[in-house]
Amino acid sequence: MARIVGVVTTSHIPAIGAAIAKGQQDEPYWKPFFGAFGAVHAWLDKVRPDAAVVVYNDHGLQFFLDKLPTFAIGAADEYRNADEGWGLPVQPPYRGDATFSWHLVESLMAEEFDLTTCQEMLVDHAFTVPLRLLWPGTGPCPVRTVPLSVNTIHHPLPTPARCLKLGRALGRAIASYPEDLKVLVLGTGGLSHQLDGERAGFINRGFDQMCMAAMVDDPDALGRYSIRQIVEAAGSQGVELVNWLVARAALGPRVAKVHSNYHVPISNTASGLMVLENAN
Ligand code: DHB
Ligand code: FE
Repeated sequence: MARIVGVVTTSHIPAIGAAIAKGQQDEPYWKPFFGAFGAVHAWLDKVRPDAAVVVYNDHGLQFFLDKLPTFAIGAADEYRNADEGWGLPVQPPYRGDATFSWHLVESLMAEEFDLTTCQEMLVDHAFTVPLRLLWPGTGPCPVRTVPLSVNTIHHPLPTPARCLKLGRALGRAIASYPEDLKVLVLGTGGLSHQLDGERAGFINRGFDQMCMAAMVDDPDALGRYSIRQIVEAAGSQGVELVNWLVARAALGPRVAKVHSNYHVPISNTASGLMVLENAN
């Protein structure tokens, strides 16, 4: 049977992709950020996932304001990246696993999550940058992937409580897959940031740190927030936190924190990184 090896949550800022492309990882601005991934690489070497379900939000590459599914999942054997205008090198195609995806779709639909299923799906920086942070280098990503996109762009957004429920159903869907597949669930985005309007540049360290603690011990506390309250506390793009909630909830109620890092700022964003495993 398939098994979740753990959850990684990380920010997905395009400037990180630019720094990777320019080889700036050891420069003073970037070192505290990239340095925190050594522990993640060591953990990945140990748990060796075969596949990654990547919970992220598309920023207008695949979906735009005219049509924006609340939850969309890839059901293809390959996903392509394309130029979003950030100046990032276009990444080689990502390997999918349509059979695994369709199992997740069947299982989630049976639990009343009416996902948009995508047999073609362009993946943006929120998918590509975190995968490159986990598996550096220039070659193709070594794991099969399933993109799971959550609308954090066009209101109304799914509530944090709904995202926790989706994550729990995702955990059950993965665990019921008959193949021996070791699965990483990766949640990308956040933490606090606001890219536009009067509060552009807004960061809230206290709220972020509370969220990182609650991700371990009490994700339901985050499920009690409304989207409006998260926007207020974390900024209009800080709502990307809901991607972390989906990923976290795929694990059981008791988790062990393997690693975490919080670093402010990277570009306009408070960057957060966590590695969680199911506790025995
Ligand atoms: C930035 C952060 C994001 O989450 C994003 O999608 C794009 C840009 C930033 O801080 O620059
Ligand atoms: Fe974003």
